[in-house]
Amino acid sequence: MEKILIFDTTLRDGEQSPGASLTSDEKLKIALQLEKLGVDIIEGGFPISSPDDAKAVKKIGENVKNSVVCALARCQNEDINEALKSLEKAKKPRLHLFLATSEIHRKYKLKKAKEEIIKIAKEKVRYAKKFIDDIEFSPEDASRTEPDFLLEVCQAVIEEGAKTINIPDTVGYAIPEEFGKLIKFLRENLPSDIIISVHCHNDLGLAVSNSLVAILNGARQVECTINGIGERAGNASLEEIVMNLVIRKNYYKVETNIKTEEIYKTSRLVSTLTGIPVQPNKAIVGANAFRHEAGIHQDGILKYRLTYEIMDPKMIGIPKSELVLGKHSGRHALKERLKLLGFEFDGEKVEKIFEKFKKLAEKKKEIHDVDLIAIAEEEIKPVKPVYSLEYFHIISGSSTIPSATVRLKKEGKIIEDASNGDGPVDALYKAIDRITKLSPVLKEYKITAITGGKDAQGEVNVCLEINGERVYGKGVSTDIIEASGKAYINAINFYLVRKNLEKKIIKGA
Ligand code: KIV
Ligand code: ZN
Repeated sequence: MEKILIFDTTLRDGEQSPGASLTSDEKLKIALQLEKLGVDIIEGGFPISSPDDAKAVKKIGENVKNSVVCALARCQNEDINEALKSLEKAKKPRLHLFLATSEIHRKYKLKKAKEEIIKIAKEKVRYAKKFIDDIEFSPEDASRTEPDFLLEVCQAVIEEGAKTINIPDTVGYAIPEEFGKLIKFLRENLPSDIIISVHCHNDLGLAVSNSLVAILNGARQVECTINGIGERAGNASLEEIVMNLVIRKNYYKVETNIKTEEIYKTSRLVSTLTGIPVQPNKAIVGANAFRHEAGIHQDGILKYRLTYEIMDPKMIGIPKSELVLGKHSGRHALKERLKLLGFEFDGEKVEKIFEKFKKLAEKKKEIHDVDLIAIAEEEIKPVKPVYSLEYFHIISGSSTIPSATVRLKKEGKIIEDASNGDGPVDALYKAIDRITKLSPVLKEYKITAITGGKDAQGEVNVCLEINGERVYGKGVSTDIIEASGKAYINAINFYLVRKNLEKKIIKGA
């Protein structure tokens, strides 16, 4: 069976999701998991956009052994040089060059004629080829480019040594049938040893469909992101493309190198480190993806699973909600269970998780894998939190004005303040605001129970806007007020850490 190469751009295009910027340490952590997942090419970043992005690509190149490591660059010498410098230590480096080709981009963004576009593209691929062999070229906004001109550009860069031609549907405008025809046209007219890749955005909800139809028409590489995160409505989701190819292998007749059992873990890691929650009804990795609500469905499932389930959650590594540990379980049992769930922590972190586990076991009779995952995820952030919640006290009731007293720790110092509010959470958030002196606008607030039962842990997800920037935060506790406070502080920490990354606004490609 033919192979489809999986090019993951979570760390580059995915990171362009509002509020998602990652530090270089966080990127490395995700890259190592992507390698475990079996991703063929990891796009680590856009080195010219910030020193920390350059550092991320460098670190990924130094540590990833099996996957190709790729860096993005505009068709400009300073971009190319910076990308090549970041890739110096990579075992399998790839340079990804892009230049817009559609009429609308030529006329309004670049103010360049067709001939100039071809000249620049050729010149820059030729320049880069002196230093690196593996070059991918993307004619940006390809799906809105005149097909004959698109072919001309592709042929021109291939002549200079580009080996992969990536066809982006930059603004998510393509329709499957039309996009399939475009890929077929290119496949029939480009040399057979050139890999055709596609990169689809999800503005009309068609990114995965367009990617799959491209495969049927000869594309042999797809660019995608974990959880489908990315610029605006996001990119094609890796897990959806891969599971389509696995479950409907009889139709697509192709395979990938992805180890599907690593999908769930990767999805959780990306969600935790970017702070972007996965929507509950998201295909493959959403919380409801394998939940059956209707009685008729539940009855069918009990009689024969395949009546209503086309894939086994085990295939993507979703742990069964098993009762695993109790109040009397020791450190060793906890460490072993965490290992089984894919978390490898050093002694100090295990100790911290153990303490949290014991506290939870006092409040909650049954501790399931999902509870443990929630505790462990709080410990996987490599970034040191700026603020942490030390203590809170709430007064609330039907005939009192809700008030909150809060103590936060910052750099070893305890700061305390208090406030009234419309409700207990509002009072808590106002007291935190008095301490941090930030004025976040609460854009979203969501609470979910991790398991069933009155003693279940609650997970709170918030989205805040601070000085015009969106950030996400998550907090977990059996006390929903505490979970709310943790989520709010988590988002503030994200904001404060990211503020120092200073990404450049990149203009004109
Ligand atoms: O969407 C796009 O066009 C891109 C290119 C840089 C490949 O992300
Ligand atoms: Zn893109």
